[in-house]
Amino acid sequence: MLSNKTEGPRRGRSFDSINKFYEEKQLNSGMLISKSTHIALFYTIYTLMDESKDKILSSKKEHAAIVFSLKNEVGGLVKALKLFQDNHVNLLHIESRKSRRRNSELEVLVDCDSDRETLKEIVHLLRKQTSIIAMESHDEFSTPAYDFAEVPWFPKNISDLDKSACRVLMYGSDLDADHPGFKDNVYRKRRKYFADLAMSYKHGDPIPRVEFTEEEVKTWGVVFRELNKLYPSHACKEYVRNLPLLSQFCGYREDNIPQLEDVSSFLKERTGFTIRPVAGYLSPRDFLAGLAFRVFHCTQYVRHSSDPLYTPEPDTCHELLGHVPLLAEPSFAQFSQELGLASLGASDDSVQKLATCYFFTVEFGLCKQEGKLKAYGAGLLSSISELKHSLSDNAKILPFDPKITCNQECLITTFQDVYFVSESFEEAKVRMREFAKMIQRPFSLHYNPYTQSVTVLKDMPSINGVIEELRHELDIVGDALCRLSAHLGV
Ligand SMILES: [Fe+2]
Repeated sequence: MLSNKTEGPRRGRSFDSINKFYEEKQLNSGMLISKSTHIALFYTIYTLMDESKDKILSSKKEHAAIVFSLKNEVGGLVKALKLFQDNHVNLLHIESRKSRRRNSELEVLVDCDSDRETLKEIVHLLRKQTSIIAMESHDEFSTPAYDFAEVPWFPKNISDLDKSACRVLMYGSDLDADHPGFKDNVYRKRRKYFADLAMSYKHGDPIPRVEFTEEEVKTWGVVFRELNKLYPSHACKEYVRNLPLLSQFCGYREDNIPQLEDVSSFLKERTGFTIRPVAGYLSPRDFLAGLAFRVFHCTQYVRHSSDPLYTPEPDTCHELLGHVPLLAEPSFAQFSQELGLASLGASDDSVQKLATCYFFTVEFGLCKQEGKLKAYGAGLLSSISELKHSLSDNAKILPFDPKITCNQECLITTFQDVYFVSESFEEAKVRMREFAKMIQRPFSLHYNPYTQSVTVLKDMPSINGVIEELRHELDIVGDALCRLSAHLGV
């Protein structure tokens, strides 16, 4: 595709020349619809193609020398040199000598000719089996700006969440001394039961159905009844629209605690989100990683019955009433996933900033609707007292700006000092997207919804794969516009 001879409108050309290009294309293809739309489509496709093509052209063959050390083991040199052969790189000169650093190792000098993208790939592969001591080249590639070995581990596939979902910071029955259920042995035993269910869960398993006790249902019932009195006036319109669907399809009722498996199936149909049971708090990195794959980690236990309107930690009332109705909203689901994707492989500092933005949006966010403030944060929509407080004159409200919000202190046991308001999820998404671009990460990521995996875009082959996908998607849109146009007789 990248060597396509078809000329497209280049970035920086005048709009007239793009227009002319469009007219020629239209004439050739017999398309007779919406000129401006097609101009935009072609412009997008061909700009992408041109940018990639320019990169390919700029990656002409260059001379480079690499020195790496080998452990003195049989076949080590052959394995290393095979990387050059497999990548069709021409070797000009090879020398070996005993390492001056470590007696047991050999050092190898390789002179070669290759384009920079292939060299980058070889260096990356070489690092896995050798230590690179020096490189010399005629361009900046010789000193890679970033070592991928320094990137924190992150899941590449949805099933990789099996590795991180068990890293709970607080496990089931380990309650703090000030927890309402601390002295209740029956409650602690019950918490261990839920924790064990979550810890043994694996991706692809159905979420175990739980027979909730009469006491648990009664606790849920109080929370459900009291919060439902506030939703019509306090919750955002998306929440109010989705809640009845959950009653209809997932058994949201005062006398019934919905099963996570039913909720997960419902969400999957609506937005592609699924639920994964979790035993307790995850680290911000592990929790946000789930969102990248449209997976929401949910607790399944119920708060202690002594005070149904208070819980010091997330419980299933918080997840089901606070989070789920908005996870059924496509724009909110997209916003949540983008937060998650931005966190993958990011530094600890960046993850902390993203987690703070998550806290003040997904947990405690407000939005403006028809001139009034409404709540969309799950921490608000599952807490009667804080929901009322956040929309009262006593609350301090600031516009949501990730650059400012990311530095705000998150308060766990008291009301927040400040709440952040967005005009819409769309606006919050755009702001977060801009913020995410500033995060220091040596690569971009592309999420593939078919395989539920992420591709690291760090070289031309991986980027070209995405361009191919985009081209195909845009072809579909172009075809749909043509058909619509023909149908309307435009
Ligand atoms: Fe939450």
